[in-house]
Amino acid sequence: MSKQPIGIFDSGIGGTSIWKEIHQLLPHENTIYLADSKNAPYGPKGKEAIIELSVKNTELLLSKGCKLIVVACNTATTNAITYLRQHYEVPFIGIEPAIKPAALQTKNNAIGILATKGTLSSALFSKTSELFANGKTVIEQNGEGLVELIESGQIHSKAMRELLQIYLEPMLKAQIDYLVLGCTHYPYLIPILKDLLPKHIKIIDSGKAVAKQTKAVLEGHNLLNSTISTPKLEFYSNIDPKVMQSFLGDAFKAEYLNF
Ligand code: DGL
Repeated sequence: MSKQPIGIFDSGIGGTSIWKEIHQLLPHENTIYLADSKNAPYGPKGKEAIIELSVKNTELLLSKGCKLIVVACNTATTNAITYLRQHYEVPFIGIEPAIKPAALQTKNNAIGILATKGTLSSALFSKTSELFANGKTVIEQNGEGLVELIESGQIHSKAMRELLQIYLEPMLKAQIDYLVLGCTHYPYLIPILKDLLPKHIKIIDSGKAVAKQTKAVLEGHNLLNSTISTPKLEFYSNIDPKVMQSFLGDAFKAEYLNF
């Protein structure tokens, strides 16, 4: 069982930012990544639809023998992980916006959160926000349109910069000193964000924490791959995989799969 792959899914290519952290920490693990780009973005969809898509991705990963599933999508985690854990026996790792470290470290008592509508409106997000950010100014911003631009290969476009400028403005007005990236597509925006933000604003995401948690859960279930061999790393997209390929680089191969 320990040689079986780790399954990872996202509404698209954003979760590859999480896959990179997992692969770096667990270089011997076999992995299967699903980019459900055909159905991206998940953010504006309702909870039921997000659960349905998450079930579809989970079933496919389980049919490929995955020993653990990483829901590399804040929107799918905050809306569907409770359902998935109730209906499947395999361990699930989720990702949520890193509100806690930002709220603990802010000196200005003001933090910004950039996430999808689906994440910001979820009960899980409200609970975490209430628990850790109570008494702080929290500027929540729906990053509508950002995922679409990334998925269509327009990350370096003028439209992207303009949209980000609009989204950052209320945060700058509120004098945030931490910006939480609450969507797995957004770590790819860090170079642009750094360019647009004053230097003292720290940008945080949950990628490293998810990788650590994946390792801990595999250890806990005695599922770490103990064989030291070159891992099999599979990446599937249900649309033309050329944009995913550009995010992966030449060392890995993105393939088309109808799912
Ligand atoms: N990567 C997903 C997330 O972390 C993107 C959401 C979307 O498809 O709207 O929320």
